[in-house]
Amino acid sequence: MNTGATNPTYEKLAQRLRAQPKTWLVTGVAGFIGSHLLESLLQFGQQVVGVDNFATGHRRNLEEVRAVVGDTVWWRFRFSEGDIANLETCRSACKGVDYVLHQAGLGSVPRSIEDPVATHRANVDGFLNMLLAARDRGVARFVYATSSSVYGEHPALPRIEEAIGDLLSPYAVTKYVNELYARVFARLYGLHSIGLRYFNVFGPRQDPDGAYAAVIPKWIGLLLNNVPCPLYGDGANSRDFCYVANAVQANLLAATVEEEAALDQVYNIAFGQQTTLNELHAMIRDRLAHIRPGLRSLQPVSCPPRRGDIRHSWADIRKAARLLGYAPTHSVEQGLDAALEWYVSHLAEPTAA
Ligand SMILES: NC(=O)c1ccc[n+]([C@@H]2O[C@H](COP(=O)([O-])OP(=O)(O)OC[C@H]3O[C@@H](n4cnc5c(N)ncnc54)[C@H](O)[C@@H]3O)[C@@H](O)[C@H]2O)c1
Repeated sequence: MNTGATNPTYEKLAQRLRAQPKTWLVTGVAGFIGSHLLESLLQFGQQVVGVDNFATGHRRNLEEVRAVVGDTVWWRFRFSEGDIANLETCRSACKGVDYVLHQAGLGSVPRSIEDPVATHRANVDGFLNMLLAARDRGVARFVYATSSSVYGEHPALPRIEEAIGDLLSPYAVTKYVNELYARVFARLYGLHSIGLRYFNVFGPRQDPDGAYAAVIPKWIGLLLNNVPCPLYGDGANSRDFCYVANAVQANLLAATVEEEAALDQVYNIAFGQQTTLNELHAMIRDRLAHIRPGLRSLQPVSCPPRRGDIRHSWADIRKAARLLGYAPTHSVEQGLDAALEWYVSHLAEPTAA
């Protein structure tokens, strides 16, 4: 989707990468964000190694990337099925790699409350293994996915990177531990890393199914089946929804930035706009009502607030802009248009309505 918005720094980087291809490891490559990283890197002429154990990712995501980029490009991708909780898997994945984009992990605050051990194993044991493997293989840069959940209940809005509150879920703890480990590995072993605190990333291929689905794909999936959406709390909770192309841009900038001041840091990655859940519901429903007029008056179903949920989330993205050259190209509305186009073509049954 062409939104008209561009980021000259990112465009220059794409040119540079095309001229001098590198080898990238994307962990969690069969997942939502990982598969978008794979797609962009292959389109930029890079060699990509991928690892995934299909805990929450899907082979169909890899097949879709293959269809998008074509078989003449696909051969530059090497996939290995494996669990990052196994150190040997991480060591062999990091072999010959210039940059690591570490996305593998178990998302979802509710999942971590139900099963903190599984979340810890993937997100902390797996993370430590990946750091060790990257250190021992001499990887030039380790970029990793952390989360806006690390802000916990700190009252300041918009969120600035330094102001962290009490954490509200085991998931938030795992991501915060990642940040601490990354900092210590920089100090002790000189492994340069950058943590990207994603704020509610959304877009094509994000899984709409299952108990732990994220709000946007879940609601789209329900509305396409004419089912009212559950709304936890009063709907005034807010989030900073970030289209996946913006997250991809942040990863590539973080992997290649050269200024020393930018390294061994964490950055908010978001669009930088607060949207309430009530507003989000109306945005999705009204867009879908163009093809399903019956949805126009469908109201969400009120449910009790969920444990572990942050009340408001809104990012100050100036640090990423200043030090990485990050400039999101897709607004929430533009991202929703692109995502809906994909979900409608992949999920919707033809309808007479
Ligand atoms: N999507 C968001 O809004 C968001 C927000 C904040 C942080 N994050 C983080 O970003 C990363 C990517 O998230 P996503 O939305 O693409 O989720 P996703 O579930 O679609 O992708 C995660 C991928 O990691 C794989 N994986 C999980 N455990 C693994 C293991 N032990 N070994 C190997 N592979 C494993 C899964 O199979 C999946 O393909 C995660 O670390 C997540 O916590 C995402």
